[in-house]
Amino acid sequence: MGNLFKGGLETQPNEVTIEELPVRGHLPGWLNGALLRTGPAQFEVGPDSYRHWFDGLAMLHRFAFADGRVSYRNRFLQSPAFRENNALGRIKYADFATDPCKSLFKRVASIFTSPEYGGNGNVNIAQFGADFVTLTEYPLAMVFDPKTLDTLGVYDYEGTDAQNSTAHPHHDRERDLGLTYAAKYGITNEYRFYSMHGKQLTSLSTIKVDHPAYVHSFGLSGRYVILAESALRLSSSVSLALSGKPFIENFEWTPEDGSRFIVIDKVSGQVVVEAPTEAFFSFHHVNAFERGDELIVDLIAYPNNEFVNAGYLDRLRADGAGIPGGELRRYRVPLNGGRATYELLTTENVELPRIHYDTYHTRGDYNYVYAASVRRGTTDFYNQLTKVNLTNGTVSVWHEDGCYPGEPVFVPAPDGRAEDAGVILSVVFDSQSATSFLLVLDAPSFGEIARATVPQHIPFGFHGQFFTDPIAV
Ligand code: CO
Repeated sequence: MGNLFKGGLETQPNEVTIEELPVRGHLPGWLNGALLRTGPAQFEVGPDSYRHWFDGLAMLHRFAFADGRVSYRNRFLQSPAFRENNALGRIKYADFATDPCKSLFKRVASIFTSPEYGGNGNVNIAQFGADFVTLTEYPLAMVFDPKTLDTLGVYDYEGTDAQNSTAHPHHDRERDLGLTYAAKYGITNEYRFYSMHGKQLTSLSTIKVDHPAYVHSFGLSGRYVILAESALRLSSSVSLALSGKPFIENFEWTPEDGSRFIVIDKVSGQVVVEAPTEAFFSFHHVNAFERGDELIVDLIAYPNNEFVNAGYLDRLRADGAGIPGGELRRYRVPLNGGRATYELLTTENVELPRIHYDTYHTRGDYNYVYAASVRRGTTDFYNQLTKVNLTNGTVSVWHEDGCYPGEPVFVPAPDGRAEDAGVILSVVFDSQSATSFLLVLDAPSFGEIARATVPQHIPFGFHGQFFTDPIAV
C-alpha cells in the first residue's frame, strides 16, 4: 500500500506569475472574474516542522478568467507568522496543532491577556467592504491585494478580545449584514456571535459554557443563528493556558455528554431553544432553513473526532493513509423543545461542501450540494467530486485515477435560472505528474469542460471564493 497523494502535502516554495495557462477544452466565454484561494504551502521552517495539515504557512492562489483564458499567480501570505518564523529560522507562533514551547509566563499572558496571533490565514478568503482578507481560526485577519496577492497588513477588528474565531462568517442576505462567531476562554468561557459593521464587531449574543466545544463554522437560517456544539470539548481553560499542548490537543472527545444545537434569534440574540442529540463532530455547516415548527440544519458530521487525528502530517503522509469521509446529515431541530434527530442525505463520504450560496442559502427549496469526497470502499484522500441532488438522492461524480480534487466552488452563470446553472471550479492534484490543474465542470451535467494545467503542485488547501467584483479582477 503506497500513498499517491502525499505529494500534495509537500512544501511549494515557488512563487510564479503565469499570464496564460495551457487549457484543454474550452472555458465558458461568460466566466470572468477571479478564483482566490488560500491553503498551507510551507510545512518546515529551518529544523522545525509543522505537525498538522491545518498548520502550514499560508499561500494565496489566484486564477483569473477573461475572454476564455485563465492566468495563475501564487504568493505566500506575508503574515507575522510567515515573516518572523522565516527570519528566525524557527517556528515561533503557535497554530492549530503545533506549539513552539513558550515559557510558563508567556503561556498565561498569551491566553488571558494579549495573545500573540501569527495571522496565518490559510483557511478561507472573504471580502469585507472593499477589503480582501484571509481568515483562520484566530481573530487576526490579513488584508491582501486581490490582483497582485501582495499582503497589505492586519485587518483591525474593533470590539473583540476573543481568542478563537471562525473562517466561515455568514452574509445575512435580508439585512446585507455580516455575522461571525468567536470563543472567549478564561475564568469563564463564552461562545459569542457578532454582527459586522465594517471593522466594528457588535455583540449579538454571548453564551456562557463550562466546556466549550471546538467550533469551525456555524449555521444561519432565515431567522436563526445555529451553533452545532460537537462533543470535542475544552477540558479546562486553565489547562489551555498551562498544558504546553497545542490548541486542539486541549480538547477532549466526550461522547457521553452528547451534542447540542443552540438556536439563537438572529436579531435579538436571545437563545430560542437548545436541542440535545447524540454526540457528533463537525467542521462544516451546509445550509439551514425553517420548516413549520422545525429548524432544518444540513451539515457534514462524523461519529467521532478521528478526522483531527488523521490530519497529522506523519499519519497523512504514511503508506496506506486516508482521511475519514464525512456524512451529509439533515438534522431536524424542534423549535418547541425536544431532541434533534437526523437522516443521511447521501451515502457518499463528503467534506468541503459548497452550495449556490448567494441565492439559495437559508432557502428550503435548495436542491444541490457539491463536495469533495472519498470513494466508498477506498482508504484514500479526497479522490472524487460529488454533486448530491437532495430531492431524489441521486449523485453525480467526477473521478480520475490518481487525481485528488479540492473544494468545488460553484460559479453561477450570469443569465442562469436553474439552481445549478453555472460551473464548478476545483484545484486538483495529479499524483502522476506531481502538478496541479484547475478543473472546470459543467455544473448541471457534472462533466468536464476544461482543465488548465499549472506547472507545479498546489498543496492541498481548504477554501476559496470566486469574485466577479471589478476590484478583484
Ligand atoms: Co472550513
